[in-house]
Amino acid sequence: MKRKIMAVFGTRPEAIKICPLVNEMKKREGLQVVVCVTAQHRQMLDQVLHTFGVVPDYDLDIMKDRQTLFDITTGILQGIKAVLEKEKPDVVLVHGDTSTTFVTALACYYLQIPVGHVEAGLRTYDIYAPYPEEFNREAVSIISEYNFAPTPLSRDNLLREGHKPERIYVTGNTVIDAMRHTVKADYRHPELDWVGEHKLIFITAHRRENLGEPMHHMFRAIRRVLNEHPECRAIYPIHMNPVVREAAEQELGGCEQIHIIEPIEVFDCHNFESRAYLCLTDSGGIQEECPSYGVPVLVMRNTTERPEGVAAGTLRLVGTDEETIYRVFTELLEDEAAYKRMSGACNPYGDGHACERIADILEGKPYAPWEP
Ligand code: UD1
Ligand code: UDP
Repeated sequence: MKRKIMAVFGTRPEAIKICPLVNEMKKREGLQVVVCVTAQHRQMLDQVLHTFGVVPDYDLDIMKDRQTLFDITTGILQGIKAVLEKEKPDVVLVHGDTSTTFVTALACYYLQIPVGHVEAGLRTYDIYAPYPEEFNREAVSIISEYNFAPTPLSRDNLLREGHKPERIYVTGNTVIDAMRHTVKADYRHPELDWVGEHKLIFITAHRRENLGEPMHHMFRAIRRVLNEHPECRAIYPIHMNPVVREAAEQELGGCEQIHIIEPIEVFDCHNFESRAYLCLTDSGGIQEECPSYGVPVLVMRNTTERPEGVAAGTLRLVGTDEETIYRVFTELLEDEAAYKRMSGACNPYGDGHACERIADILEGKPYAPWEP
């Protein structure tokens, strides 16, 4: 009999990292795959589903404008019960650290359905940074039966916390699988034509704990540096959160060196990143992608759950203080040696075969852990 695996996800980054796994599992004789999206994100989720050709069997359609954590939590908990009771999956797969991830795992716990956690074991050990993601992923680890740790470091976190070694598998990060097919040498885009021979600065920002003053500081620093460096042009595919949009409009509006554009497809995003001179972000996923391209990343956060990229030299934590971001950003534009120290390509997050390993484990086949 086939094992029934239900994948549940709701936001853009979960979709980018779990759709390649859904497509891998669909090829397997021993697995039956059911997809349920919460649609915690709507447009940004649909864009990814379209890219990977994944059609959900269930769509809880919970997104509201300016939703609170209470809205998301209650919306999912109420909607998912009937789906889980009807499908009775053998295992439910969740990804990462969003509210969709945590609430789905909680619902599975209530119904005593085994959970598989993809991208398990990332930690900052500060439940307010990132908020609420650190709490979400720590809580899911208590519940989950299969912990698919992307790296040896994330495995070690889980072991140190007392999670059972036989439930932990080091697979590499599935985002590296997604990246195998996206970056093309002959890729063209009108925005890249606009950048031309200028240095491309790639920007994203959305973290809940950065909304408000920190985000204004980040944007002000970026604007000051761009003003002083005409050799740079910045592209900022902006998150759909209206609070982010208001801050960006206020601080960056009218700056001719920056194009603020709508969210781009992941295929475009990887091609933009790979051609960037420098990336400034508070995103999680982009911290994993840029090291492969050797593109330095200034992480506009005080802490990161992805120290592998910091150790490799590609990521640098700059916090959200305007003067610090201004100083480090300027340094990387003006000091070639400082730039070179950060720009060597490396691959600390996986080898592009994470989905195959996870599917093997779920089918009960032998598995060889990923080793960097
Ligand atoms: C969520 C996750 C965060 C993840 C991020 C990825 C939680 C609490 N947060 O944060 O961990 O890093 O997604 O991007 O799980 N919106 C739209 N259309 C969309 C998506 C969002 O209009 O397709 C707007 C809505 O007004 C929504 C708001 O953005 O209310 C915020 O979305 P939400 O999922 O609550 O927070 P994110 O910052 O996206
Ligand atoms: N991304 C995308 N289009 C965009 C911006 C980002 O496809 O316009 C991709 C990016 O390549 C990465 C992921 O979205 O894989 C990061 O998502 P986000 O920053 O929303 O969330 P986080 O990773 O911080 O949870």
